[in-house]
Amino acid sequence: MTAISLTVNARSVDADVEPRTHLADFLRDGLNLTGTHLGCEHGVCGACTLLLDDMPARSCITYAAACDGARVTTIEGLDEDDIAIELREAFTREHALQCGYCTPGMLISARDLVLRLPGADERQIRVGLSGNLCRCTGYVGIVRAVRSVIAQRRQRGVMPVPGAGRTELGPVGSGNAAKTPSAGVQNAVSKVAAKPQDAGAIVIPDVVPAQVVTHQFTVAFPPDRVFQMFGDVAGVAACLPGVTLTGTPTPERAEGIITVRLGPIAARFQGAARIERDLAGLSGRITGIGRDQRSRSATQGEIRYQLVAVDHGAATRVDLSIGYSLTGVLAQLARPGLVRDLAARLTADFARNLERRLAGVAPDDPAATAHALNGAALLIDLLHARARDFLRRIFKT
Ligand code: FES
Ligand code: FES
Repeated sequence: MTAISLTVNARSVDADVEPRTHLADFLRDGLNLTGTHLGCEHGVCGACTLLLDDMPARSCITYAAACDGARVTTIEGLDEDDIAIELREAFTREHALQCGYCTPGMLISARDLVLRLPGADERQIRVGLSGNLCRCTGYVGIVRAVRSVIAQRRQRGVMPVPGAGRTELGPVGSGNAAKTPSAGVQNAVSKVAAKPQDAGAIVIPDVVPAQVVTHQFTVAFPPDRVFQMFGDVAGVAACLPGVTLTGTPTPERAEGIITVRLGPIAARFQGAARIERDLAGLSGRITGIGRDQRSRSATQGEIRYQLVAVDHGAATRVDLSIGYSLTGVLAQLARPGLVRDLAARLTADFARNLERRLAGVAPDDPAATAHALNGAALLIDLLHARARDFLRRIFKT
């Protein structure tokens, strides 16, 4: 017997297994997770597909003993997963199952496609599902169902996740789960224990940003005070130029509008953000998505912050990492250099507003407050600064 410790549907499992036991038998017979079906047991039909370290894998040709340290997600672990919920509804609507034998494996492969594919291309879907055999439906309903979910999500501004959030190279189930927690599905299965989302609420996926910029600033207040302030969602939003909250935020979630003006284009991104905080590490992460109907642009991004004590704890350095992806018309205007400069200016405004708020001082300059962001002015300032630099370089002053 071989002793293994692994995570199955976000639960820690320790077991002794025969070296010859495959993962599907271990799950079905040992853990009573019979949603994983067995068809050919030769790695051909795809009925036994599950997620191993967030990647689709055949459990009939994977030894359980080889999964020590791995993260396993079966169809039962996707009960509360946003994409799986949408797929199940679409499968029902489009008559994408009859006997249902292939369906668990089919849903897991389909979920991976929904996460990754930027568009709803039928050929890509058929190729992506070619490792899952169905003997009842003729595939037409299945393809239609997957296609409709991809189309609906993209229409709502939910971006594809490059590589489905995979962070590892190497064979599936190589046992790296413990080293790289929290990619894609980890987040999905953790929702089993979390509160279900409100019907109709904006779904916030994990983000793999295309661009990342880093900034830091220092405020003359101790880290615990600054961390407390960062927990006041409405207060932080009031310090962010261009941000207006819609509805009442909770400590974990906020919905709102970000207004940005770039030259002739004004964008009004409506979206939502998920807030995570780590008191022990004095750090946090805000993940958000937004969509602007008028400019047909969409964005998703994350802000990570880390508070560092300076001046013997009398002051705090705030290290910010801002990652974002932008698509649509604005993406054509927002070259990385320009966005970097804008991010620097916005961060400076945020720092100033934050310091004022911490000091209990009302902003005396309305233009410095969140709701009076003048993006055009920022842009003009930037262009002036760049022109000054250019002239300085020419005349070597
Ligand atoms: S049962 Fe695993 S691929 Fe057929
Ligand atoms: S629904 Fe019967 S095998 Fe696919």
